[in-house]
Order: sequence, then C-alpha cells, then structure tokens
Amino acid sequence: MSERRVVITGFMAAGKTTVAHSLAHLLGVRALDLDDLVAEREGRSARQLIDEEGESAFRDAETRALEEALLDEGARIIATGGGAFTFERNRALVRRGSCLTIWLDAPFELCWQRIQAGDNSRPLGRDEAKARELYERRRAAYALASLRIRVCADSTPEELAREIERALTS
Ligand code: S3P
Repeated sequence: MSERRVVITGFMAAGKTTVAHSLAHLLGVRALDLDDLVAEREGRSARQLIDEEGESAFRDAETRALEEALLDEGARIIATGGGAFTFERNRALVRRGSCLTIWLDAPFELCWQRIQAGDNSRPLGRDEAKARELYERRRAAYALASLRIRVCADSTPEELAREIERALTS
C-alpha cells in the first residue's frame, strides 16, 4: 500500500465505517473509527455526548480524538463522523498528516433510508428536513476531499474499497 494514510468522509450513513473496514482488510492494515475513539476517551457515545453536553462539546472531543488518531501511525485508514471534515481545524490536521481524503458521496435518499433503518444513534439525523439541509450545506466541505467516490444503493463495501485501492495505487 502507498504510505499515505486514508481519511474517509461523507454524510451520515454513507458507509464510511464499513468501507474503512473493507479497505483495511483488503490492504492488510488497521482501520480506526473516530466516533469509537471519542466514545472510548469520553466514556460516552457520540449520541450521548451530543444529547447530554451539546454538539460543541462533542466537536471538541472529536478534534482531540482526530489529533490522537493521527499520532497513531498504525491506524492507516480513519473513518470520521459525518461532521468532522466540515471543520477547517480538522481539515488542517488531516492536511498536516498528508492523508489522502476520500468523500463517499451517497445520495441523500439513501443516507436517509439507512439513518431511519438504524438504531437512532444519530442526534443530527432525527428530522428529515434538517438532515437534508445539513446534507446540502456540507457538500462543499466534502468536495474538498482528494477523491470522490460515488455510492449507490447497490454498491457493496468491497466494491467501494476496491475502487479506493485502485485510486491509491494508480
Ligand atoms: C455526525 C455524524 C455521526 C457522529 C455524530 C455527528 C454528524 O457519525 O459523528 O453523531 O455531524 O454528521 P456518522 O457519520 O458515522 O453517522
């Protein structure tokens, strides 16, 4: 694999965590999920932190976790939460780490369908109109990623991981 680390971004339920694990498996490296690291460090899930302390407390914890993740040389693939890459301070950390950034670009309808089918673990995904507005607003930030991978309803994590692998080696 190229020495460059990969950071995966995209909207909630675009498939960041599953694709990160598929890619890590394909490349024989370790993936790290930023929301998991936040939960480990804070003793609470992203959902609990946002619901109990507010979004800005979660964002601070998220940035601290990203700093830590980037110090962990073995974590070659980092799946971020859907908001992380929309903050310039986080993008600056990722740039400093010379990471290859991937935007998993899934249509809103697909994300919304998956959010609804999920376990209600996404406080920013409770209201469809608000989530849609967030989706539209965030696209400009996601578009700053080095590579955009389109996701459709029948894309499998393995296919998406192979597509990223091809881009990494070309
Ligand atoms: C968020 C997305 C979540 C999690 C938190 C905030 C967001 O991660 O970080 O609930 O702002 O889009 P996923 O993108 O994995 O759902």
